[in-house]
Amino acid sequence: MEEERLVNGWKKPEDKDLELTLRPSKLSEYIGQTKVKEQMRLFITAAKQRNEALDHVLLYGPPGLGKTSLAYIIANELGVGIYTTSGPAVERQGDLVAILTNLQPKDVLFIDEIHRLNHTVEEILYPAMEENVVDIIIGKGPGARSVRLELPAFTLVGATTRAGMLTGPLRDRFGVINRLEFYQESDLCKIVQRAAKILGVDIDEPGAMEIARRARGTPRVANRLLRRVRDYAQVKADNCITLAVAKDALAMFEIDQYGLDQVDRKLLTTIIRVFNGGPVGVDTIAAAISEEANTIEDVYEPYLMQLGFLQRTARGRVITSLAYEYLGFECTTE
Ligand SMILES: Nc1ncnc2c1ncn2[C@@H]1O[C@H](COP(=O)(O)OP(=O)(O)OP(=O)(O)O)[C@@H](O)[C@H]1O
Ligand SMILES: [Mg+2]
Repeated sequence: MEEERLVNGWKKPEDKDLELTLRPSKLSEYIGQTKVKEQMRLFITAAKQRNEALDHVLLYGPPGLGKTSLAYIIANELGVGIYTTSGPAVERQGDLVAILTNLQPKDVLFIDEIHRLNHTVEEILYPAMEENVVDIIIGKGPGARSVRLELPAFTLVGATTRAGMLTGPLRDRFGVINRLEFYQESDLCKIVQRAAKILGVDIDEPGAMEIARRARGTPRVANRLLRRVRDYAQVKADNCITLAVAKDALAMFEIDQYGLDQVDRKLLTTIIRVFNGGPVGVDTIAAAISEEANTIEDVYEPYLMQLGFLQRTARGRVITSLAYEYLGFECTTE
């Protein structure tokens, strides 16, 4: 099911090569997220003036909003190297110690999905982030001793879709915590136009706007829709994306004016039909529509909540009257 979804913010294998081409490399090319950008520009400038490593930065928000892009931009703007890894990839303490001791002064260490670091590995990070040291144990049993290694000053950039799953001690050690927001349509429109230019696709402003409107506030989705609409335009419309072409193509892919696809609609209608509109727990919904609960939480819900179609309450998920209306259900009947 996930494989077929066009509007899922999570990365697919086919996105990989293209993302490298489309990924902005400077702050000035990073569209939208004005507040985050301004802050980062300030902190980066200040760190450079003092010739110090930038403070540790945590980036969080739903998938596909530009966390990885921003991490690379930070390193690029600082003019330092970047080492990239991810929470699940660092299995043992020794792995992290090896990475840390190999950093150059002021380098960026980017840990994606940082909420998935295991606890013993995470403990290595505490003194590393705070005092630039790691303590390693040499030997076993009564002869074992602890040795303290000095590290170069570095900047940890952590990215997560789940800030709530970070442990307190780790979270507290980030000097800068940035939440990335869903993008406005006008910004997504610029992102589509920029990507079209890089890809050499002809697109007019209304065409770009139409793709932007249905991209769920997410640049990765915008780029993916652009690619599919390009295919359509190539085969059916002389290679030029106009409003009409974008509309026809997106209708063919069953993406509606809010960017919802059949899976979103199934989720909403299931809660309405089977659970009387809620409240219902996420695990129950997951079972009913054969999806993973964490996919629902990370990918579907943030956008449905943003639209005002769904609420998270202490007792479970609740469908709003707005969603009833949108789906053509009477709010009072079941
Ligand atoms: N602000 C932006 N301006 C222009 N393009 C952007 C921007 N943010 C993201 N993109 C585009 O969206 C793609 C996905 O962004 P990125 O990989 O940085 O998302 P992410 O938040 O790291 O996602 P994930 O949570 O899945 O790791 C990038 O390759 C880039 O093309
Ligand atoms: Mg990423």
